[in-house]
Amino acid sequence: MRVLEEVTDELELARGDIGQAAKAEHGSYLPDDTVELMKRSDSCLFGAVTSSFESDYTSPVLTFRRALGLYANVRPVRTLVRTPHVRDIDIIIVRENSEGLYTGEEILDDAGVTTLRRVSRAASEKIVRFAIRTALEEHRRRVCCVHKSNVLKASDGLFVKVFRELMRQEGGGLVAEEQLVDSAAMKLVTEPSRFDVLVTLNMYGDILSDIAAGAAGGLGFAPSGNIGEQYSVFEPAHGSAPDIAGKGVANPTAAILSAAMMLKHLGLADEGRSVERAVAEAYASGHMTCDIGGRLGSSRFTEVVVKNLRP
Ligand code: IPM
Ligand code: MG
Repeated sequence: MRVLEEVTDELELARGDIGQAAKAEHGSYLPDDTVELMKRSDSCLFGAVTSSFESDYTSPVLTFRRALGLYANVRPVRTLVRTPHVRDIDIIIVRENSEGLYTGEEILDDAGVTTLRRVSRAASEKIVRFAIRTALEEHRRRVCCVHKSNVLKASDGLFVKVFRELMRQEGGGLVAEEQLVDSAAMKLVTEPSRFDVLVTLNMYGDILSDIAAGAAGGLGFAPSGNIGEQYSVFEPAHGSAPDIAGKGVANPTAAILSAAMMLKHLGLADEGRSVERAVAEAYASGHMTCDIGGRLGSSRFTEVVVKNLRP
């Protein structure tokens, strides 16, 4: 919020409640008022919530993704800082965000549980088209479909089939690649620079985006955008890190970069780029938070970013 307020005065900012505090105050992890506010807004920036293991818990993140029809989750991960543990990475993960293993349908019987996993042609087409569009807009060259069709022959097989068809018909010169999810996971650790844009099913995208963030230095490096036909919500790919709550040491990079993505989505491209440049310059000049071996807290790192902002 500090960076947004500093970089533009074109935004009118409103706040909505979500998560455990909202549950305590309004009786819901995602109050209707918040959903209405999200729908009235041109875009949303979401902080992070703590998952709960209470029996009545449903993730507010999954609820708003469904309520707002946010079918695509785009997660760019890029190396910003050089430490011995960080790899060279500059990828965009495009994650199907509406179905797959996230149907929430689990059928209990005496012997166990069956989870329904949905792969539809319509959702597969939408996400592959989204990945193609993203790759072309971002001047990328390759799109890699990540799947497990050697085991999930019909469902992941359909996803791959749609990918091949659309890349052939609408790929606009992009190179089509395919990779099984287990080997993609390994290569994201050992040689992430071989990837460009990845398009994948919901749960694979969830897992691979954390691996990619790890390659770039940690969870603080993965911003994301949930995009639908009508609405959009930008959020750091991480959760709320309750173990460090109140200490002021969380790495705000993913949150700040999510705000930059939102600015670009809202048509404030110069402002978005200015935020991205300010973050990159903060790292280039050796400013780092504790999670990657630096000394700055969240606020002081943010102030460095703010200082680096130029119109
Ligand atoms: C993410 C998160 C969510 C997901 C959780 C909070 C439901 O891990 O955005 O990656 O699984 O999609
Ligand atoms: Mg996740």
